[in-house]
Amino acid sequence: MTEPVQWLADGSPHSLRFNDRYRSRTGGLAQALTVFVMACGLPQGWRGRDEFTVLETGFGLGLNFLATWAAWEADTQRCERLHFVSVEAYPVAPADIVRNALAPGAPDDANPQLQARLPALAQELARAWQNLRPGLQQFDFAQGRVRLTLAVGDVQTVLAELDCVADAVYLDGFSPALNPAMWSFATLQAVAQRCHAGTTLASYSVALEVRESLKQLGFSVRKRAGLPPKRHRLEALLQADVI
Ligand SMILES: C[S@@+](CC[C@H](N)C(=O)[O-])C[C@H]1O[C@@H](n2cnc3c(N)ncnc32)[C@H](O)[C@@H]1O
Repeated sequence: MTEPVQWLADGSPHSLRFNDRYRSRTGGLAQALTVFVMACGLPQGWRGRDEFTVLETGFGLGLNFLATWAAWEADTQRCERLHFVSVEAYPVAPADIVRNALAPGAPDDANPQLQARLPALAQELARAWQNLRPGLQQFDFAQGRVRLTLAVGDVQTVLAELDCVADAVYLDGFSPALNPAMWSFATLQAVAQRCHAGTTLASYSVALEVRESLKQLGFSVRKRAGLPPKRHRLEALLQADVI
């Protein structure tokens, strides 16, 4: 059984379970690139590396994954292998992933080269996205150079099962007020325990409790100008390993 996605009149995907949008109403790709990919210092961060690992909370419609894959593919100095690890309790149907990639928001805000690649990458993902089970699943793309590890289950449970070291983190649960489990101290601590000194972290949320938890866990946190209609976004950097 896949999670139903409600497509609103403005074209944006909405969750009935959480009563929130999966992405910004204006420019989903622009949001993925500005709020997550570039805010984590990419593509520069993966250059010169054999492998680079992104850890995400909330796979949703996979737009952040597809945008990261497209940015990696377009970068002539990309790392050898990109590993994208993401957590999702309620996987959607592959048709919704493709639909979202076909119209990921206002085209003028985004990078047209990357935007043009999204439908094909989404089709590849959708073909692989079959018979998902609870627990860890791996999908390889780009001749094995792009690996997606999807942890299907509740964030707390599956983070505990994840053995990875993240170089960058995307925090992308629904709004903290509507989806507190994704932003609890225990969740952020489990994320931080899978990071290293120098791991970059990004989110659209600048909720005070989120910023305070991240600071307590050893991140330096900055509130940056957001992508309209959001006023702010968050960038953070882990200062020292978390035990
Ligand atoms: C804003 S959406 C993610 C959008 C996604 N990053 C993208 O690029 O399309 C948040 C996601 O978090 C998932 N989620 C919410 N609560 C969760 C939980 N307790 N454990 C795991 N996933 C959860 C939702 O099902 C939803 O898909």
